[in-house]
Amino acid sequence: MIRTLLIANPKGGSGKTTLTVNLASLLAARGDNVRLLDLDRQQSARLWLSSRPANLPAIWPYQPSQATGSQSGWLIIDSPAGLHGKMLTRMLKLARQVIVPIAPSAFDINASQDFLQALHEEKAVRKQKTLVGVVGMRVTPRTRAASQLEQWLDTQSLPLVTHLQDSQLYINAAFEGRGIGDLRTRTAERQRAAWLNLLNWVDQQPPADQLPDELTDYE
Ligand SMILES: Nc1ncnc2c1ncn2[C@@H]1O[C@H](COP(=O)(O)OP(=O)(O)OP(=O)(O)O)[C@@H](O)[C@H]1O
Ligand SMILES: [Mg+2]
Repeated sequence: MIRTLLIANPKGGSGKTTLTVNLASLLAARGDNVRLLDLDRQQSARLWLSSRPANLPAIWPYQPSQATGSQSGWLIIDSPAGLHGKMLTRMLKLARQVIVPIAPSAFDINASQDFLQALHEEKAVRKQKTLVGVVGMRVTPRTRAASQLEQWLDTQSLPLVTHLQDSQLYINAAFEGRGIGDLRTRTAERQRAAWLNLLNWVDQQPPADQLPDELTDYE
C-alpha cells in the first residue's frame, strides 16, 4: 500500500526541498517506509540523503528498477523550480497529493498564482484524484505577512495545511542529513506541532495498492 506526494512550486527557493527532507524524516521517525524521488538536476534532496547517518531511521532513494508490486509506505517527489506543462501534468498523475510551499511575501504570492491556477485546471485536480494543500513557508506568526497569505489562500479556495517558521534549525540539520524528525532539541519540539498538521493532512490520503504504472518505468 503506497501513498505518493509531490512537493511543487515553480518559484525557485520557495522551500520545496526543505519540506521534502523534513517531512521524510518525520515519516521515517515514526517507522514508515519512505522513498525519495528527486527530479531536480541540482539533486539537493538526493545529496541530503547521501549524507544521512546510517544510524538514523532509513529513507531510501526511489529506484524504478526495484519498483515492483510490493511497494509500501510513501513516495515523496521533490520537483525542480520551473515545473510546468507536460512534466507537471505527468507528475500530477503520479501523486495523490501536492504540497505547495509558499512564503508570505507579495513576490512569492504573485509568482505562485499562475501555478495554482494551472493546478486547478489540471484534470487530476479537477476530478479530485489529486488534492492540493499549501504550506506557508518561513512564516512569522501574527505578522501582516502571515495574515496576507491566509487571506489570499481563502480567495483561492485552497487549504493552508500548516505554516512553518523561519528557523536556522532546518539549515543546520540539512548539513548533517538530518531533519526535524531526527531532532530532540527544545527548538525542534517547538516547531513540531506545526508539522503534525501536515502529517495529519497527508495521512488522509487513501493508500493505493501499487505505484502508478508511469512510475515503474520512470527514468
Ligand atoms: N523554514 C525555513 N527556515 C529557514 N530557512 C529555510 C526555511 N525553508 C527554506 N529555507 C532555506 O531557504 C532556501 C531555499 O529553500 P529550498 O532549497 O528548500 O527551496 P527550493 O524550493 O527547494 O529551491 P529550488 O527551487 O532551488 O529547488 C534554503 O537555503 C533553505 O535552507
Ligand atoms: Mg529544491
